Amino acid sequence: MTQNIADCRKDFPALQQNISGRSLVYLDTAASAQQPAAVIDAVAQYQRENHANVHRGVHTLSHRATELYEGARDKLRAFINASNRTEIIFTSGTTEAINLVAQSYCRPILGAGDQILITWLEHHSNIVPWQLVCEQTGAELIVAPINDDGEVGLDELYALMSDRVKMLAIGHVSNALGTVNPVRRIVERARQHDIPVLVDGAQGMPHMAVDVQGLGCDFYAFSGHKMYGPTGTGVLWGREALLEDMPPYQGGGDMILEVSFDNTVYNELPYKFEAGTPNIAGVIGLGAAVDYLQSLGMEKISAHEKHLHDYMVNKLESVDGVRLIGTADEKASVQSFMLDDIHPHDLGTILDNQGVAIRTGHHCAMPVMQRFGLTGTARASLGLYNNTDDIDCLVVALEKAREIFA
Ligand code: ALA
Repeated sequence: MTQNIADCRKDFPALQQNISGRSLVYLDTAASAQQPAAVIDAVAQYQRENHANVHRGVHTLSHRATELYEGARDKLRAFINASNRTEIIFTSGTTEAINLVAQSYCRPILGAGDQILITWLEHHSNIVPWQLVCEQTGAELIVAPINDDGEVGLDELYALMSDRVKMLAIGHVSNALGTVNPVRRIVERARQHDIPVLVDGAQGMPHMAVDVQGLGCDFYAFSGHKMYGPTGTGVLWGREALLEDMPPYQGGGDMILEVSFDNTVYNELPYKFEAGTPNIAGVIGLGAAVDYLQSLGMEKISAHEKHLHDYMVNKLESVDGVRLIGTADEKASVQSFMLDDIHPHDLGTILDNQGVAIRTGHHCAMPVMQRFGLTGTARASLGLYNNTDDIDCLVVALEKAREIFA
C-alpha cells in the first residue's frame, strides 16, 4: 500500500485493466469509487478466516468477527470526530440512513402545518424519504432554489427557515454538479430557528476531512462505496441525545435486550438501530477504507483533487462545443457538461469505446436536471487515483466524439 497519492493508482486492481483495448480511465467515482487492494483483502481475509455472526457467539470466530466489526466502528468514530462510538450507526448506505431519520426522528413529531426543508440540489436519496414522511404525516416539503451556477441561494434558503420547519436536510456536496454547500454557515443559521440539520455526506466524505462536531449538524449520513469501501455499507452519525429519544427504525435480532409477547425491551445505542445480522464483511472493508484514506491524508486528497478539478475545468472549457453545467465557486471533484447537441448516453458510449468511463443521464437528481432544462448531462467525476493524463484522455475522447458526430 502506498503512502503517496501520485503512486496510489497501483493500489487499485480494477484500474490495471484495458477497456476497449486502452488503459481504463475511470471518471465515475461519484457513482461508485473503485476499491484499493487493502479493502478487498480485508474483506477476503475476514471471509476466509474470521467469519461468524457478531454479538451472538461465545466461540472464537464470533469473538474475532465482533472485534473486527466493532473495531471498524471505532475507526469511523475517530475519522469523523464523533464524540462517542454509540453515535455511529451502521446502515446499508446514505439512503437507508436518511430514511432512518425521516421515519424514526421526523415521523413521530410531524403533523399538518409542519415543514421539511431541502434544496433544489439534492439527489433522490435526500428527496424521496422526505416526500414519503410528508405523505404519511400531512407535513409539507419545501425546497430552496439554486441559481444558474448551481449554488443554493442562501437568502432564499434562510427566508424559508421558520419555526414550522422541523428538519433541514442538505447535501454537503452535490453529486450532479459538484457544488460544495457552506454547511457550517447554514447550520448556524438553522440553529437560530432551532431547526435540526441532517447533512447528506455521500459526496462529502470521499473528498474532504469531515468533522461532525465542527460542522455543528445533528445527523450526517454517508455511504461506504463512495469512499473506496464496499457497497451495501454506510453510516448514520447522529447526536447521542437525539438518537436516544428516537424509536427503533426496524425490529429484529440484536436490536433488543429482551423479547416477550407482553413487552420487548430495546437494546442500547448503537444496536437499537442495527436490527438483524449486519453486513459484517462490508463494515470491516469500510474500516479498511478509512485506514487507507488516513494513510494518504484527507488534506492531501482534497488538495490533489482540487488541482485536478481545476485542470479538468480548464481543459473542458478548451473543447469546442462543451457547455459546463455547474459552475459554482466552491466545487469538489465533479463536472457535468453537454457536448454540442450530442445525447449524453451516446457520448458516454463513444467515450467507453475509447476506454473512458463517465456517467451520463440524470445522476439520480432529476430536479437538478429540470432546473437546467435538461433530461441529463455527461458527468466526469474524480477520485484520489486520477491524474492529469486521465483528463487529457477525456479531452481526446471528446474531440473524437465531435468528429464522429460532425
Ligand atoms: N448517486 C450516485 C451518482 O451520483 C449513484 O452517480
